[in-house]
Amino acid sequence: MTAPTSTPTSTPRVTKAVVPAAGLGTRFLPATKALPKEMLPVVDRPAIQYVVEEAVRAGLTDVLMITGRGKRPLEDHFDRNVELEHALEAKGDDAKLAAVRHSSELATVHYVRQGDAKGLGHAVLAAAPHVGHEPFAVLLGDDLIDERDQLLEQMVAVQQERGGSVVALMEVPHESISMYGCAAVEGSGDVVRITGLVEKPPVDEAPSDLAIIGRYVLSPGIFDILRTIPPGRGGEYQLTDAIQAQIASEPVHGVVFRGRRYDTGDRLDYLKACVLLASERDDLGPPLLAWLRELVAERA
Ligand code: UTP
Repeated sequence: MTAPTSTPTSTPRVTKAVVPAAGLGTRFLPATKALPKEMLPVVDRPAIQYVVEEAVRAGLTDVLMITGRGKRPLEDHFDRNVELEHALEAKGDDAKLAAVRHSSELATVHYVRQGDAKGLGHAVLAAAPHVGHEPFAVLLGDDLIDERDQLLEQMVAVQQERGGSVVALMEVPHESISMYGCAAVEGSGDVVRITGLVEKPPVDEAPSDLAIIGRYVLSPGIFDILRTIPPGRGGEYQLTDAIQAQIASEPVHGVVFRGRRYDTGDRLDYLKACVLLASERDDLGPPLLAWLRELVAERA
């Protein structure tokens, strides 16, 4: 266990990011039978690279990835590929060489295996020995936040100011709330106090239309709760249930996100992310948009 980095009276700094990427990715089968869904390319970077880049932008360069069976490509992606680097060097392809090196130099990436994929709560608990007694961020490996939106930075700032845990929330259409964890909140504006959380409630029982999205800054007290909670919805250990239990002992706040987010574990959202991000690129945008206009006109 890592020792606390500050006195008990001040909130220890957030320095570590935990990226759960051990899920089975069933929504994307058969593509994810042998390839982790986090490795699916979004334009020309695997989805997980955007997530690690986001953590690094927020100052979290110590990244712990929770992986499992069949997730080796994730480790290879953030490691050197010396053979490929030599080949690109010999060809004088400096741009590709820089791109290949970038992913291995981004952050210090550690790995721990979850064993059985028993749910997000179970995955986060696997981070306990690495995280120790500091607050830490959790970024889901298949959830992309547009790099122009500074959600994680804001969440870290709220955690440092108010302590406890901080959850990212996003307003979703009422009929979609049963696909998410849902928050009951007090207050309005960008930062709200969370009074209750429920995982994937039936639409008519949802306390709000505020859905939990894949970013958290958690106090280390969550680990003791994760060790004791029973399996929840779907027989899985739910992180939402643990944070709900934490409300009794620590403040839990929500940061309401109004920016751009893509769930790359969902096929339609994945396609939207690829098209949108490619359309904004100087090299791909103009020809892609011209082709899309033609396609839409033809299909209309
Ligand atoms: P999801 O529910 O989106 O992931 O979990 P999944 O189970 O892989 O996807 P589907 O629904 O079957 O398509 C959210 C995140 O939590 C991780 C996943 O890898 C994903 O990043 N996760 C989930 C774990 O690491 N371990 C688990 O046991 C469950």
